[in-house]
Parts: sequence; C-alpha cells; structure tokens
Amino acid sequence: MVVVRGDGIMALANAQAVRLFGHSREALIGQPIEMLIPKRLHEEHRNHRQVYAAKPSLRPMGSEMELFGLHVDGSEFPVEVSLSPVETKEGSVVIAAVRDITGRKKDAELLRQLVESAPDAMVIVDARGTIRLVNGQTERVFGYSRAALIGESVEALIPERLHAVHQRHRERYARGPTLRAMGAGMGKLLGRRPDGTEFPIEISLSPIETRDGLLISAAIRDITERQREEERRLSIEASLQHAQKLESLGVMAGGVAHDFNNLLVGVLGNAELVEAELPPDFPLRVQVQDIQAAAERAADLCLQLLAYAGKARVELQPTDLSALIRDMLHLIEIAVSKHHKLHLALDSSLPLILVDSTQVRQVVMNLLLNASEAISDRAGHITVTTNIRYFAQEYLRNCDVADRLEAGRYVVLSVKDDGSGMSQAVRCRIFEPFFTTKFTGRGIGLASVLGIVRAMGGAIQVESEVGAGTCVNVLFPLNTEQGLSEVETDTDGPKQPVILVVDDEQVVRSVASVALKQAGLPYLVAQSGFEALEILRAHRDEIGVVLLDLSMPGMSGAQCLHTMREECFDIEVILCSGYEEHDATRAVTDQYIGFVQKPWRVRHLLSEVRRALDTHASAAHT
Ligand SMILES: Nc1ncnc2c1ncn2[C@@H]1O[C@H](COP(=O)(O)OP(=O)(O)OP(=O)(O)O)[C@@H](O)[C@H]1O
Ligand SMILES: [Mg+2]
Repeated sequence: MVVVRGDGIMALANAQAVRLFGHSREALIGQPIEMLIPKRLHEEHRNHRQVYAAKPSLRPMGSEMELFGLHVDGSEFPVEVSLSPVETKEGSVVIAAVRDITGRKKDAELLRQLVESAPDAMVIVDARGTIRLVNGQTERVFGYSRAALIGESVEALIPERLHAVHQRHRERYARGPTLRAMGAGMGKLLGRRPDGTEFPIEISLSPIETRDGLLISAAIRDITERQREEERRLSIEASLQHAQKLESLGVMAGGVAHDFNNLLVGVLGNAELVEAELPPDFPLRVQVQDIQAAAERAADLCLQLLAYAGKARVELQPTDLSALIRDMLHLIEIAVSKHHKLHLALDSSLPLILVDSTQVRQVVMNLLLNASEAISDRAGHITVTTNIRYFAQEYLRNCDVADRLEAGRYVVLSVKDDGSGMSQAVRCRIFEPFFTTKFTGRGIGLASVLGIVRAMGGAIQVESEVGAGTCVNVLFPLNTEQGLSEVETDTDGPKQPVILVVDDEQVVRSVASVALKQAGLPYLVAQSGFEALEILRAHRDEIGVVLLDLSMPGMSGAQCLHTMREECFDIEVILCSGYEEHDATRAVTDQYIGFVQKPWRVRHLLSEVRRALDTHASAAHT
C-alpha cells in the first residue's frame, strides 16, 4: 500500500509495498509514484491520475487499462490497484492498495490454453451468460469470429425462438451447477450460425470456480453427421427387417404349399376315382364334382404360393415378351372389365428374354387384374407397354425388388392404370403374401409376381399416387447382350462400332433396329436424350455413330447433341427430323455429319450410317 499526495509524490509506503517493489521504504518516500510503473505507461498513468484528482472516488483502477508494476530489478509484474481518497491536514491524498496478480494471470492463461486444445467448440460464460472465452473450434463450428463473440450473450449462438427456454435453463444451472450433459428436458439442442442456418448440437457443461467467481464451460459438438449416420443406419435396418420378413414368409408359404399340394393329390385323385365308379344317376355326383372344383382352385393357390417362394417348376425358353402378350389378348379381354379401355404399346423388335412363359403370363395377368380392380366399376384406362430401356444403378437401387442388379439394358413390361392408387402404408406391404385391401382378395397376386421376378433376376418398380393411379414396371434381364453381341461375335476381327438409335417414337426405333440388324450392324436404342447419354457413358468406347431425333420431349435432340459434344464422346452424329434440314437444324450449334428427313427410306438411312461409320474409322486412324 502506498499513500500518494495530490502532486503524485509518495508520502507513505508499507512493508508489503517494500516487498512487492524491492525498494527500501526510504527510497520510496518523497519520490513520484511513476517510479513504480514501467516507463511506457508513465504518460497514460499521469492522465489517469489527473482525471482521478478532479473527481476522486473509491474505485478499482485498471478497468480501462492493464496495469503493471515495476520492480527495482527492472522486471514487470501485473497488478490490480484500488484507490481511496482521504482528506488530511496536509491536503487530500490517495491510498493505493496494490496487489500482484501474476498468479491469477497464469491461471487465466492456463485456462485459455486448455480451452484452445479441446477438440470440441468450447464456450466459457460467466454467471450472467456473457461469453468470456471461446476457442478456435468455436469459430469453425459456429462461423463467428472470436472477437464477435467475446462479451456477447451466449444466446447469440442459439436460434431466437429458443432464447427464453435457454435463459431459464442457464439461470437454474448457475444456481446449482454440476458437471452434466445438457439437453434433458430441453428437447433437441440447436446451434445457429450468423447466416441463420441451424444445426443439431450436443453440449456438456461444467462449472469452473475462479478467483473472479463462477464460470461455466460448455463443450459443444456439431452432431449433424452423427444424426445423418443414425438415420441411414435406421433405414438400412428397416429395409433389412422387411426383406427378412418377406424371406421367412416365403419359406413358410413354400413349405405349406408343398405339403398342401401332396394332400390335394389325395383329395383330387380320390374324388376322381369315386366319380368314375358312380352310377350315372347317382344323386350326390354334383357334390363330388364340387369337391374336385374346390381342390383345383386350392391347387392353383398352391401354385401361386410356390411361385412366391421361388419354388415353382420353371421351364426357361427364349421368349418374345410382346408376342406372348399379343397371344394372350383374348384372355386379357375377358379378365379386364368392359368399362376399362385397354391400350397396348408393344415393341415388336424386342430381343428375346430367357423366361418361363407360363410364369410371365401369370405376372401379366396379376398386374392386369390389379389394375382393373383398382379402377373398379368406373370407366378408366389401362395401358400395357413393352420396350427395352437402359437403367442406371441409381434407378435400380430405388426399385422395390432388385437384388443387386447391374446397370444396363432391360426388357420392360409396364402396366399402368388410372385407378385408386395406393397410400404409402399400403405400398410398403403389397408384396407380402396374404396382404390385401380387397373384400374378396387373397393377397397372393403381387407376392407371386415378386417370387417369379426375383427368381428370374429381374426387378419391379411401383409408382403410385392416391387418386391418380398406379404404374408397375417389371424389368426382365437380357440373357445375353442381344443386339450388341449377337452381331458383334460374327467376326473375329476388331470390334465394329455400335450405332445408337435415339428416338421417342417406338415405331421409328423398331424399324431402325430391324434395318440395322438385317444389315449386320450392331445397335442399341434409347427412347430419350437422357437415356442416350446414360448409354453413351456406359458404352463410351463401343458406340461410333448416333442416329439422333431432333424433336423429343424432355431433352431436345439439339440439347442432347450439345451435351454429347461437351462430354467429348468419339462419335459421328446423324440428325433426324420430320422437317427439312434447314428448318430442323436451326437450334443446332454443334457438329454433325449427316441428316435424314422422316419418313426416311431404309436404303437412305443405311447409306448415311455407312458413310458415318467410314468417317469414324478414318478419324480413328489419323
Ligand atoms: N394397381 C393397383 N392399384 C391400387 N392398389 C393396388 C394395385 N395393385 C395392387 N394394389 C394393392 O396391393 C394389394 C395386394 O395386391 P395383390 O395382387 O397381392 O393382392 P389382391 O389383388 O388383393 O388379391 P389377389 O391378387 O390375391 O386376388 C391390393 O389389395 C391392393 O391394395
Ligand atoms: Mg391381385
């Protein structure tokens, strides 16, 4: 403690002051107070002293400036000073109580280092919720600079709507602080960045007792990634459980159907034997025939169950899907209600697929019956389409049934209706055996479709909207890469470049395919610009020539060509349109080699294709 006169001269110094500054008492008394202060602070100190002299009061010094003492050996040390004015006979003096705060500064520095090295965002607040210290990780997690946070209320890091709740929790915590995780009773904890984006966080709180009073340290972790991971895990688990359920149902259904079948042999056979032995006018003959009819229906049910379980007897043969459907037209017409208009769009140039035709008929029939039943007794439309399409991995992954299928071309059967559609809850269960929403339904139709398609290595995709209708797509795998390999393997020489036919019109694709096939040229088809690009990406080195229709819905031919050029495919492009070249190619800004106007003649088309192939070959040699 030193007593300082109004002119800044020390009048008294106690033993503590002597110890603190290293000067003898004699050396201090009569000297200006500035001798105890580092030189660089003299001027500032003098100003402060004058201000104080004008308006003396009891107060701590140093809130505006950091204070240092100067030891006689020249070393500096941080101090805290509190001043009190006293009136004496010799005039007013000031008693300055000086405390060495080196220890406290060290504590603060240690805390800063600890906080900085923590892997979490660390926010240290005082009992009033003012942020006193943050680490670098806080800047990264919250996107605020350190300077913008220090001195702010901790609520700055929290969405506004949660401020009131947070404040209450904070006040309660300050009254009874313990080490604990925060969040219980507060619902989900959220952080907020300066741009207003919010993210889930996890917080653990611990009280820190300091010489300055209670501080609360909050370790904050951004758990966005963890939550996402958790959601992913749950969804995988759910689909796994669903698959397991279907599989165990399959095992059970297969077992029951197998045993039942054997029992039915006894029922049917014996009924038949009895009937044969009955006298013609036997009164109970009708009843015996009823037994047979019922047993036959039970046998049919067993057959479907066996199909679901993948245990049906199958006889695989190369099959033309379109021809198969055309052949069962009379059956279809009987099955579908007269009020429902049936449209067929069957691609006549489909490659053959290796399937059991009885089973495929069963698939077609089940899908058609469902479509017709979904429209019920209103008027409506059912469209049956067959074609060949390229499917990317992304699409196959989102199919309802597809066990690890490769991206590629598939023959597709689509049955589309404008009936009732289904809710999400129904959609999730349609492949379960015995799941039905119909009064007379058995719930076995789609289960058997699933079994059949799965056994063939195909896929099913269902699109449905309540009130709008349903479209079921069944994908059949190609047994060999038809169209491609059939023609290619004719020659042992270098591979012939493949021609890609892109047209949204099915007839055009069919005729072009037949023409190219007959000419011995390997080809692929795409029905949209998007599909064409997918195929080109998948067969980059095989495709040499693209026959591209200009007017297609979705992506136009010109846009498609532009993307092809941007992606630098090594191809020659022949454009195709119903308009004459000048009008049709107005929007085309990219290079193409030929143009054919629709309706083209096969001979003309082939000569353009050959010319393009020659150019492609000579370009490859140079
Ligand atoms: N095209 C569709 N439109 C709307 N809902 C459909 C359609 N297809 C199937 N469903 C729904 O899926 C359920 C299961 O179909 P599934 O064919 O397996 O059984 P079902 O038609 O009810 O009976 P079953 O075919 O054995 O006579 C149906 O009850 C129906 O709710
Ligand atoms: Mg059905």
